[in-house]
Amino acid sequence: MKKYRVGIIGCGNIFPMHAQPIVERRDIELVAVCDNKKIRAQEKAIQLGCKAYTDYHDMFKKEALDVIHICLPHHLHAPVAIEAAKHGIHILTEKPMSIDYADAVEIVETARKNDVILGVIFQNRYNPGSQLIKNMLENGELGAIKSGKLSVTWDRSDAYYQNSDWKGTWEMEGGGVIIDQAIHTMDLMRWFVNSELKYVDASVSNRAHEMIEVEDAAEGVIAYQNGVVTAFHAINYYSYDAPVEIELHCELGIAKMVADKATVKLIDGKEFIADNNPLETFRYDSGVKGYWGVSHVKQINNFYDTLFGNDQLDISGEEALKTQEMIAAVYESGRKKERIIFNQ
Ligand SMILES: NC(=O)c1ccc[n+]([C@@H]2O[C@H](COP(=O)([O-])OP(=O)(O)OC[C@H]3O[C@@H](n4cnc5c(N)ncnc54)[C@H](O)[C@@H]3O)[C@@H](O)[C@H]2O)c1
Repeated sequence: MKKYRVGIIGCGNIFPMHAQPIVERRDIELVAVCDNKKIRAQEKAIQLGCKAYTDYHDMFKKEALDVIHICLPHHLHAPVAIEAAKHGIHILTEKPMSIDYADAVEIVETARKNDVILGVIFQNRYNPGSQLIKNMLENGELGAIKSGKLSVTWDRSDAYYQNSDWKGTWEMEGGGVIIDQAIHTMDLMRWFVNSELKYVDASVSNRAHEMIEVEDAAEGVIAYQNGVVTAFHAINYYSYDAPVEIELHCELGIAKMVADKATVKLIDGKEFIADNNPLETFRYDSGVKGYWGVSHVKQINNFYDTLFGNDQLDISGEEALKTQEMIAAVYESGRKKERIIFNQ
């Protein structure tokens, strides 16, 4: 069987979480990596035994790729994904799909027109805690959700922004704590509630960072067509990455997630707990092993199993578009200082 030819664009922080699962599969081959910082591309190419490019147009033209992984700054996700789709290359992109919602719609439409598979990384859906809550909601054990709340209080210091040439800007990051950090937790909540948006009412501001343009604080309400109203609070000026919290008050109990650990307490007294499995680890470039990265492996394997016809894509472009729409509405509501209402 022909091995699929795979490329990765962007050799920064998230690169190993994509490269490692690719090289571990036998049915695909990492043939090229690309980074406009030549030394980064060359270093990864030598390490992984593939070609290095500094220009992705060039890589698309020369490598006859079947699949591209997009690990780039946010503003490049849409142009690169659209160009890849036009070349007939399947796409797995890091979150967020794009900065603007309209660009995300264009990615999905271009992928559909060119018959390529489009996946978007939201790896936290694969955490055992997330899976426990989702399964208990789907099989009715928790009953209907009455309301939900989430909080993300993390630390993205001035040094974090100083070390990046794109973070902290509207043009390239497209936002701050919402589009970059809280997007994962907000995606989980939307996935749990599993309904179309009714309205979004939010405030978005920069309260404690002087050197960045984008928001470091946001709070608000996301209401869904099924009647569920959820609250969110996100800041990235806290002094450490405190455990993310999600709580769902349901007819038959309360589901709570603190960091990745889920605890479900039902009103009949039963309790269920799920957390990351310490036996599952991910080996980083440096050789250090840790849990972070394991869920990327699961999502990347689902993407390839789908390409080979052995599974169904869990997080498609269409699915991720709904989270993108929610995020866009948070920004629009914050900017206009008004409620954004969705038609049914
Ligand atoms: N899923 C997660 O939990 C998670 C975690 C971290 C980052 N991310 C996402 O991964 C993406 C990349 O983030 P990062 O932290 O790795 O960023 P990064 O800045 O560390 O890496 C981005 C890389 O892209 C390269 N690049 C920039 N412009 C380029 C161009 N025109 N052509 C080729 N290469 C170019 C940069 O030189 C850099 O090496 C973002 O979308 C981010 O949100 C996701």
